[in-house]
Amino acid sequence: MAEKRNIILIGPMGAGKSTIGRQLAQDLHLEFYDSDHEIERRTGADINWVFDVEGEDGFRKRECSVIEELTELQGIVLATGGGAVINKDTRNRISARGIVVYLETTIDKQLARTQKDKRRPLLQKGEPKDTLVRLAEERNPLYEEVADIVVRTDDQSARSVASQIIDQL
Ligand code: S3P
Repeated sequence: MAEKRNIILIGPMGAGKSTIGRQLAQDLHLEFYDSDHEIERRTGADINWVFDVEGEDGFRKRECSVIEELTELQGIVLATGGGAVINKDTRNRISARGIVVYLETTIDKQLARTQKDKRRPLLQKGEPKDTLVRLAEERNPLYEEVADIVVRTDDQSARSVASQIIDQL
């Protein structure tokens, strides 16, 4: 039987990966997974706790293995965390195991969408805008490297972004 491809969403914090992923899964009648939620489910604690207790390195190890495991599945929509692409093995893994969709947006949109959410440890220290700019410089080339499809999410509804992705599959 032909393998059902996964759809794997990548992009920075506040790009809308979880919201759009859920919409996409609903539209395509696929199962939706979110790597951050899966880490929280497995540890029984939130992402902040994992960063506090195990550090960013501990979180990245969990992220890598959760993504490796979830991409064993077929025909799922997977929203990854914004930093998933910094690991080369994870980049290779998502490229091999799905159609990779990069959700792009502006730093201002990211700021607006992440402002009220306290579950983003990387934005708890320092000026969030400076952090987002620095992360974008480091990571945008990596998102571009693995993307099969690139869609902007600036002022559009999840429904509209999902339908643009579906048109390009
Ligand atoms: C992170 C993004 C977060 C989460 C963690 C680290 C990052 O996910 O994985 O706080 O390194 O950019 P979202 O992109 O879903 O916010």
